Amino acid sequence: MFFRFLFHLTMSITMLDDFVEISEGKTKLLVPQKSLTENVPPKTPAFFNPLAKLNRDISIQIYNSFLSTYSNNNESEIIFTDSLCGVGARGIRVALEVPKIDRVFLNDVNPLAITAAKNSARLNSFDIDKCNFVSKEVCNFLSSSVFELSRRFDIIDLDPFGSPAQYIDCILRAVQNNGLISVTATDTAVLCGVYPKVCYRKYYGKSIKSSYSNELGIRILLSMISLVASRLDMIICPVFVHANRHYLRVYCSVKLSNDLANHVYENIGNVKHCPKCGFREVVNTQNHSEKCFSCSNICLFAGPLWIKNLFDKNLISNVLHLLEYNNDYQQDPNKNRKENTRLKKIFDTSLSELDNICYYYTLDEIFSHLKTNPKSLDYVINFISSNGYTSSKTIFSPTGFKTDAKMSEIIKLMKNFGV
Ligand SMILES: C[S@@+](CC[C@H](N)C(=O)[O-])C[C@H]1O[C@@H](n2cnc3c(N)ncnc32)[C@H](O)[C@@H]1O
Ligand SMILES: [Zn+2]
Repeated sequence: MFFRFLFHLTMSITMLDDFVEISEGKTKLLVPQKSLTENVPPKTPAFFNPLAKLNRDISIQIYNSFLSTYSNNNESEIIFTDSLCGVGARGIRVALEVPKIDRVFLNDVNPLAITAAKNSARLNSFDIDKCNFVSKEVCNFLSSSVFELSRRFDIIDLDPFGSPAQYIDCILRAVQNNGLISVTATDTAVLCGVYPKVCYRKYYGKSIKSSYSNELGIRILLSMISLVASRLDMIICPVFVHANRHYLRVYCSVKLSNDLANHVYENIGNVKHCPKCGFREVVNTQNHSEKCFSCSNICLFAGPLWIKNLFDKNLISNVLHLLEYNNDYQQDPNKNRKENTRLKKIFDTSLSELDNICYYYTLDEIFSHLKTNPKSLDYVINFISSNGYTSSKTIFSPTGFKTDAKMSEIIKLMKNFGV
């Protein structure tokens, strides 16, 4: 017992030596020195990824916007949990930067990470009693907290190393009716077509390699969450999603309803993709030909995957409104200009995105078919829109666009007009 105590004391002192103070958003954080200098942030003594700042900035915006219209079934407090918190970067930011949240639970199986999170919380100007620090295995933490609190969490964040698949049941069992879950997947190779068999067993859907694999990956992740939810008599509704090379992230509101859960398969389908000519469409594979509609080549099928909308446009309009009237920005526009502009661009794009279309096209693939010099994204979107189709930018790629025109129609249209 004494040696265990000595071990933890020594580790804590050593650990504090290796930590430095940084600022992220409005929040001060103590983070491992090495996480700021090494290419891949180390898992010891505790994990912190400085490159995930934008990801955390987006969370703050989504949580603030979500809570502006949220009613939590007459509970007295709004409770958030950063269920795999590392050094607590997201949870402590939430405690300070999301005023509607009354209590924050920060949990990590690594006790050193929790010591760091506690020390970080003390650096900031909020009542530290607002935060509860726990060091348990995540599913154990969620179920025991729900039992002890006699209620569920309003918002649960899940940010694991790799796949979130093994924890989805646990977060759904611990979230309030009408609450929100935010889930990160960093196994992007699995979801984006490099390991289709692993994808099938973890997410119940096959991934394929394509120029829009990140959107397919997000939709496969959503389909898996919605199927698990339906098993628990729940439905999910995505409110926001985003992706980059290192992670896919989804935000979903959750509702308890047998009736709605009965309709889960209406939200799920497959994408048929021709690797030869780039033709793509949403289908139900059970009775669909493998032949490409355009060139008769044999097609690939991605899914089952989520085929409905990805964004709650009201929530996103509200984010944009909050960003516009952000007090800090108004007080010191120069300090926050870069961050604000970046966030605004992401939310503006998602607001206008045709998110009922499950895939996008890239300028590269269109112009390599046309064998002409590429035109700008704005030019292509305007051109397609002014010729009787819908078209929009997409959050998934800076050179991608969505349209209801088929690949062959885009090519034909552009050739006809000499683009
Ligand atoms: C990707 S990190 C979290 C990063 C953090 N959310 C942030 O924004 O900085 C994943 C964390 O999960 C913790 N972890 C891994 N498996 C766990 C488990 N089964 N239960 C609880 N914590 C776990 C690790 O110790 C690690 O700190
Ligand atoms: Zn084809």
